[in-house]
Amino acid sequence: MSDKFTPIVQALSLEQDGKIVSLRCWIHRKRGQKELIFLILRDSTGQIQAIVKKDTDAWKEAEKITVESSCEITGKIKQDRRAPTGYELQVTKLKIVGLSEAFPIQKDFSEEYLRKVRHLWVRSTKLVPVFKIRSKIFEAIREFYSIKGYHEIQSPSFTKSASEGGSTLFKVDYFGEPAYLTQSWQLYAEALMFGLEKIYCIAPSFRAEKSRTRRHLAEYWHHEMETAWMEFDDLLKFQEELIVFIIWYVLKHCEKDFKDLGRDTSDLKKITAPFKRIKYKEALKMLGKSWGYDLTDDDERKLVADLGQPIFLTHFPRDMKAFYMKVDSEDKKVVLAADLLIPGVGETTGGSQRIDDEKELKESIKLFKLKPKDYDWYIDLRKYGSVPHSGFGLGMERLVMWLSGTEHIMDTIPFPRTKDRLEP
Ligand code: 4AD
Repeated sequence: MSDKFTPIVQALSLEQDGKIVSLRCWIHRKRGQKELIFLILRDSTGQIQAIVKKDTDAWKEAEKITVESSCEITGKIKQDRRAPTGYELQVTKLKIVGLSEAFPIQKDFSEEYLRKVRHLWVRSTKLVPVFKIRSKIFEAIREFYSIKGYHEIQSPSFTKSASEGGSTLFKVDYFGEPAYLTQSWQLYAEALMFGLEKIYCIAPSFRAEKSRTRRHLAEYWHHEMETAWMEFDDLLKFQEELIVFIIWYVLKHCEKDFKDLGRDTSDLKKITAPFKRIKYKEALKMLGKSWGYDLTDDDERKLVADLGQPIFLTHFPRDMKAFYMKVDSEDKKVVLAADLLIPGVGETTGGSQRIDDEKELKESIKLFKLKPKDYDWYIDLRKYGSVPHSGFGLGMERLVMWLSGTEHIMDTIPFPRTKDRLEP
């Protein structure tokens, strides 16, 4: 990037008032009169109105320029209360860099069409602020773990066996052998933990979700954490601290993006730890259901709706959850697992204390009708200095949905992958 050019956000300041600046930008809107052309200019930092007068050198190019064209433009910044952004650029020079053909997204704003032309829609003022908030959430997580002394570490995307049950596995051909796309970093994390103790990742996970809901993707970004010596209660406290930190971070850094989205953040400002904890059996009473009932997305949202705060749903029946979860010594019917439900979205994290005993793990693998052979190396970990440990996974897009106030998960990720969408 050249120093000759000023980002729009900087041009919009009293400091620049009366000064000549050059911008590199796109034409967001164009409106013409006989003697004047109004342009709304856009770059990644903001928007500014520009005015081109007929008696300037820029006029001819301004007449030619179309919406979404890229350009280099020079002019004088002037404070003007009538301008939508408080300042305007009085243009003296305009160079078209890439003249845009008629931009296809003009009239049809149906969801279906916008998903088809996603490669063009990702630049829209509807999605860009969501992506900026998304980026800050990734940043916040890394910042949090850096403060806590954690290591970021990765695992493979091709795997031999399931961690989260077979129904959502994506089968692929791995040099003629069957393999699966990873559902979770966790099983590998449990091996890495012996050397690094406190670890996390942010990576794609894959789920062959057949149902179409507004909170499921086939490929999503998964933040996961695993910690040696950590037991169940501390696992919940840790997640509370992380969520509160992320909220504080985005409120601090994304004020303009929230404003651009019209997202009132007063609900986020009220979020405080500790979060309420409800055992599965208490939730059943609240919902009027009996043991074994699997909560729906709607049930989850109902449980959090009244409170307006995240809640932990804990102590699920063993057969409802994953094979690696530790049984509660006080109630053998349930496991030390917790889902964090957040307002408007429902389940956003799932975590547990893990089985750390070899015999117990073998029994659990049998109980879940899995093949012990597929988990040889995972069982092996319990033989060499096993320790109590816990971890969780958080669906990044679900968190982005909540924080940015986005209705559908597809609009929280640039190029969503679902059962019906592999393109663009
Ligand atoms: O509850 P899940 O399946 O837990 C695990 O994968 C554990 N191995 C995590 C761990 O303990 N390290 O998934 C964790 C989270 C869910 O709470 C949800 O937010 C998100 O991942 N998630 C999805 N997000 C979008 N689309 C999907 N299809 C998702 N499936 C799970």
